[in-house]
Amino acid sequence: MSEVLALKYRPKTFDEVIGQDTTVRQLKSALENGTLGHALIFCGTRGSGKTTTARIIAKALNPNVAENELPMVVSEIDAASNTGVDNVREIIENIRYSRQGHQVVILDEAHMLSKNAFNALLKTLEEPPPGVTFILLTTEPNKLIPTVRSRCQLYEFTDVSVSTLKAYYLDIAGKEGLDLSPEAAEGIALKAEGSVRDGLTLLQKHLSGEEIVDNSKLYFELVGAIYGGDVTTALDLVSAVRKSEEARVIIQTLEKWFWWCSLESFGQRTPVRDFFPEGSTAGFDLSKLQDLFSKCLGIERDLYATPNSKAVIEMGVIKLCL
Ligand SMILES: Nc1ncnc2c1ncn2[C@@H]1O[C@H](COP(=O)(O)OP(=O)(O)OP(=O)(O)O)[C@@H](O)[C@H]1O
Ligand SMILES: [Mg+2]
Repeated sequence: MSEVLALKYRPKTFDEVIGQDTTVRQLKSALENGTLGHALIFCGTRGSGKTTTARIIAKALNPNVAENELPMVVSEIDAASNTGVDNVREIIENIRYSRQGHQVVILDEAHMLSKNAFNALLKTLEEPPPGVTFILLTTEPNKLIPTVRSRCQLYEFTDVSVSTLKAYYLDIAGKEGLDLSPEAAEGIALKAEGSVRDGLTLLQKHLSGEEIVDNSKLYFELVGAIYGGDVTTALDLVSAVRKSEEARVIIQTLEKWFWWCSLESFGQRTPVRDFFPEGSTAGFDLSKLQDLFSKCLGIERDLYATPNSKAVIEMGVIKLCL
């Protein structure tokens, strides 16, 4: 299993894409009916199939182009490292001069473009040259300027459910001829937090016997200490977690725990399910969880303001306990 699972199992057809049924159905029918727009936005969770699906579309728009010649008609541009107006102008120029097949421009991390770059792109998005399709990919559609959004067809890629991920990982382990217990598959599916790729990375580690650093028991105790106002224990636990995680990750993980605990009290399944015996989450004080969550957001902001992360995280945890 030397190959990276996420690459080996990258879907090549719509039918292989998991957990995005509505979006895939809409895209397929738009392609069949010839109503697919010339400018699309794919938004949603990281590692949920945006780039994969954009490539499948490129292939569908070029049915006569051989697999190895597809790169001639698809330009994948990382907007995060091409944020400026000049970059956008260059992209537009390049399209004008290449005349092979149906050109597909995939703009990854589209929300990173500068405002001026967006403006330079606007006219082209509104009226792309014939035979050109733009696909903007983003995890943060709210950061795209409204004039861009309104010129594009929007397709959403949702978090993939735990049960879909679990079945998928069991299937892959089977194809690799490796043992994966249903419990381990479920654990990985929960930890993936909706991202097929994140789960595949964990699966790979698990299958190759690599130890996955798992601080969730420490977090469980830390959340309990904070909830119960036990400063001494909370500080000890934070210093234990800091051995393998940086302050920012710790505070972001605490945010998630308070969020998950809130959802659990409504019976939703979250990555912390195993820590709470059946029915025990009903006793959570939701307004207290809300309060802890917003305090965490404040502490996270403080972390950006100073390089002294140890002081911020420790003072932050004391504040959470009060
Ligand atoms: N819906 C899915 N069905 C099957 N495999 C998937 C799906 N989504 C992601 N994957 C797996 O994860 C890998 C990465 O997916 P992809 O690059 O399409 O994610 P993405 O949504 O573009 O992520 P990012 O936001 O990080 O760019 C793929 O190679 C594939 O193995
Ligand atoms: Mg991508």
